[in-house]
Amino acid sequence: MHLTSVPAYRMLQTHHAEASHWHMRDLFARDPNRASAFSLEAAGLYLDYSKNRITRNTVELLCDLARECGVETQRGALFNGAKINTTEHRAVLHTALRAPRGKPQIIKGTDINSEIHAVLDQIARFTENVRSEQWRGCSGESITDVVNIGIGGSDLGPKMACQALRTYSHPRLKLHFISNVDGHDLNTLLPQLDARTTLFIVASKTFTTVETMMNAQSARAWFLTQGNSEADLAKHFVAVSTNADAVKTFGIDPKNMFPFWDWVGGRYSIWSAIGLPLALAIGIEKFREFLAGAHAMDQHFCNAPLEQNMPVLLALIGIWNRNFFGNTSISIAPYHQYLQQFPAYLQQLEMESNGKRVGADGSILPHATCPILWGDVGTNGQHAYFQLLHQGTDVVPVDFIAALKPAHALPGHHAMLLANCFAQSEALMLGKNADEGRSELQAQGKPKAETEALLPHKIFPGNRPSNTILLNELTPASLGALIALYEHKTFVQGLVWGINSFDQWGVELGKVLAKNIHAELTGTSAPQKHDGSTNTLIARAKAIFMYCGTELSDSGTLSSTD
Ligand code: F6P
Repeated sequence: MHLTSVPAYRMLQTHHAEASHWHMRDLFARDPNRASAFSLEAAGLYLDYSKNRITRNTVELLCDLARECGVETQRGALFNGAKINTTEHRAVLHTALRAPRGKPQIIKGTDINSEIHAVLDQIARFTENVRSEQWRGCSGESITDVVNIGIGGSDLGPKMACQALRTYSHPRLKLHFISNVDGHDLNTLLPQLDARTTLFIVASKTFTTVETMMNAQSARAWFLTQGNSEADLAKHFVAVSTNADAVKTFGIDPKNMFPFWDWVGGRYSIWSAIGLPLALAIGIEKFREFLAGAHAMDQHFCNAPLEQNMPVLLALIGIWNRNFFGNTSISIAPYHQYLQQFPAYLQQLEMESNGKRVGADGSILPHATCPILWGDVGTNGQHAYFQLLHQGTDVVPVDFIAALKPAHALPGHHAMLLANCFAQSEALMLGKNADEGRSELQAQGKPKAETEALLPHKIFPGNRPSNTILLNELTPASLGALIALYEHKTFVQGLVWGINSFDQWGVELGKVLAKNIHAELTGTSAPQKHDGSTNTLIARAKAIFMYCGTELSDSGTLSSTD
């Protein structure tokens, strides 16, 4: 049954007809307890969702909707390892990766809890060895630079988390992340590295992803040009993958491979060995705290009633904004410089999971699904696109995220940062009406004509929704809980929309076409018939290579003909 046929959806439609006339200003004025009624704490996080166009009745109806869409049953199925990724016939068990040791979970006759902890122990040994300088490069020098080569889920999670938790980073280790097949990425980094003190992590679930394989081959070739031999590779290249055969074929010693499993989706893999760069940076104890923070959110998600369940409420508020108010995008505004990569991380999590127009049953969905997610850190965004958020023609719900305690001691900054964060959500909600605008202009002594001419520009409609998520401090545990919060939010929204959130067929077509075009550009296949635009683009690229006296070699690298 589609969302639009569910009884609670119809009730919500009727309710929305009324809600569309509300202004949050009035809702706050009428209900002095609104902030406590629409906020909750879980796993060390505080969520205030009171600045939404909701009443207690809205929340009740939304929870009915979740119930009628099977959220409670499917939540059990997720944790129990049912094959809820139906198009790939896979279980979805990233939550098992953060379960404490000694809680057996049998999947296909194997206790995955002991397998998971065996890999965590392998990560512990390796990371401690690198950090304590017992693991040294081929010339006996300690490792100073770690380069993670991966893309999508094999890049965004560790990159975001290493930046977020940089306060806890090992002082000797510099972490680098190479993802883009654009050679400018790797080519800029390589001259900064000393091959004798660099460790490359080739991270790819499939170990077939073109970008990662090309970057890894180039890094390997560079390493060998730096006076090192094939035998030296073992001290400088490790792999994280589910594909042991491909890792071996690449030339990485299987002893230096950290495995994970097909029931870990790429965008849910930060908790697996894909988190190796993070474990290297912050150490295994802090990495375990990171897992524990996520586990605390799992426990909350599993056990709390829907009405007091943080991920469920965050998801349902999103559904209310998307499917009833028609908001097409959501902005993420972390007021923490170290969370700068968090919007990009959430883009993959939410948009690759729920950016779909077909339901899990194969039917075309008659309703909207995932909004476009975007954002940047505060206060930077305030001086760029917040104008649109306040006075633009589209209403864009915002998630504000802030830590109450900073990780620095510079006086004054943090109060200023938090003041801005809280002021933005207040301004979006309250707005400024014509009377207020007029009195303000009159108080400034503006003449009447100028006041009336300026007034329309000074009005803020307000009634623009936002959530605020507060962390006491950005720690491994609170970051773990924050990521798990959004993972479960994504899962719940997928269930309400009737989507399989765990496949990503939409990324395939472009990959296949790129392979064809690449063969044409490198001359290994005859020109094919494309559309006129694509033919012209290919011809222009080929012409410029010839004009520059360069050609694309078979390996796809640009090489000089001179
Ligand atoms: O192309 C999308 C994708 O499959 C993501 O889902 C995944 O995170 C990324 O590519 C990288 O895949 P892999 O880890 O197999 O290299």
